[in-house]
Amino acid sequence: SEESKLQLVSRHIRAFPDFPKKGILFRDICPILKDPAALTAVIDLFEEHVRKNHQHVDLIVGLDARGFLFGPLLAQRLGTGFILIRKKGKLPGPTVSVAYDLEYGKAEAEIQEDSVTPGQKVVLIDDLLATGGTLFAACELMKRLQAEVLGCLVVIELKELSGGDKLKPHSVFSLVQY
Ligand code: PRP
Ligand code: ADE
Repeated sequence: SEESKLQLVSRHIRAFPDFPKKGILFRDICPILKDPAALTAVIDLFEEHVRKNHQHVDLIVGLDARGFLFGPLLAQRLGTGFILIRKKGKLPGPTVSVAYDLEYGKAEAEIQEDSVTPGQKVVLIDDLLATGGTLFAACELMKRLQAEVLGCLVVIELKELSGGDKLKPHSVFSLVQY
């Protein structure tokens, strides 16, 4: 019988203990990208979720850096544009930024002011939800630019860190949970 898309995805995630710091179990999505069928399954599952749950999407918003690997593929499937939230100092022109904490450090997220117009409906995408610091900062940037966040998509959700609670009332759709 045919392996389910979810099984195909979860079979292509590896764990590395004590990376990048002692005590962190790093979930690595590189094997998904190396396998065309697994990557197609990820985008299929995200596309099905968005078509079923969100009426109209203007833009997919990808988070630096691993959100950039999945976001443009999904945007092409949906026929929407793709925009970037980057680590501070990478984007030219007028920007807005916000500082945040993550599972193993601190960072600052930044977006070009003209990347989204007030009232546009967006879906955020990243590879993994840990503490939720990164996606929370992204939602804050969307608020600053008056975009409407329809929901967040991640391949992996680390349940014990309760990132989903931090993001309320925004919804998080994850493919694989640990
Ligand atoms: C990782 C991951 C998420 C974030 C999740 O990125 O890709 O973006 O951490 O953690 P959080 O939910 O606790 O915020 P990282 O900041 O390590 O950057 P990278 O994608 O550039 O490797
Ligand atoms: N980002 C934050 N926590 C992570 C983890 N445990 N594995 C991979 N990326 C992460």
